[in-house]
Amino acid sequence: MPQKRTYLMCPPEFYAVDYAINPWMDTSTPVDTELALKQWERLRETLTGLGHTVHVLPAEPGLPDMVYAANGAFTVDGVAYGARFKYAQRTAEAASHRAYLAARGWTCVQPVETNEGEGDFAYLPDAYGGLILAGYGFRTEPAAHVEAQDVLGRPVVSLHLVDPRFYHLDTALAALDDRTVAYYPHAFSAASQRVLRQLFPDAVRADDADAYAFGLNLVSDGRHVVLNSEATGMAYKVEAAGYTPVLVELSELKKGGGSVKCCVAELR
Ligand code: ARG
Repeated sequence: MPQKRTYLMCPPEFYAVDYAINPWMDTSTPVDTELALKQWERLRETLTGLGHTVHVLPAEPGLPDMVYAANGAFTVDGVAYGARFKYAQRTAEAASHRAYLAARGWTCVQPVETNEGEGDFAYLPDAYGGLILAGYGFRTEPAAHVEAQDVLGRPVVSLHLVDPRFYHLDTALAALDDRTVAYYPHAFSAASQRVLRQLFPDAVRADDADAYAFGLNLVSDGRHVVLNSEATGMAYKVEAAGYTPVLVELSELKKGGGSVKCCVAELR
């Protein structure tokens, strides 16, 4: 069943690819900021059209990656575990997210350990009584997984990301509903693949083409699965699994190494 969700997004007003901190970013490729804004707006309308609430975090000059709002914090049951970015270019985003959330009644915890928010954390409220999946290997430190468990009081399962193109957990794994995941096995170490098979025997498995098209970087309300229009194979797979795919074009945002999920933080 679809559930009404609350999301936080940040418009790509100052979006650019001025530096390269992941393999998708190429500073010599021009970015069309106007088109990025239009595509972002369509994504926002798609989510509100499905009945969800979307709050907007104001964009700030000098923070071209701020559009990837998923990285700013990770929220579970009113508590926001703040981000601490790996790269200096994005450091300032964390305080903006914390200030925004604190002003709206969220209990905000400033982290000690490096972590990139919902980019590397996923929450499944109905799996094993409430389970957090956490990625490490490129951005978030394993020590932050322990810190998140202490702050949020939910078991955290650490998953090792091994392919630099899938540098955040949300490029390789997504919650399709409160207990089901889709993932791209090859983004994970052999041991983490085994952990995922053990925890989620019925998961939707993505193939290379799905993953390279950012098909795992999706937002689901438990029924509608919003994913980018290049990810046609993934759309068929989620449909075959009983969900309704909803496609949006996000070609400009891909140039920064992100897609639907990167642009959307869920507020739980
Ligand atoms: N350019 C951004 C970075 O490398 C992209 C972040 C994508 N966000 C995400 N949740 N995967 O940090």
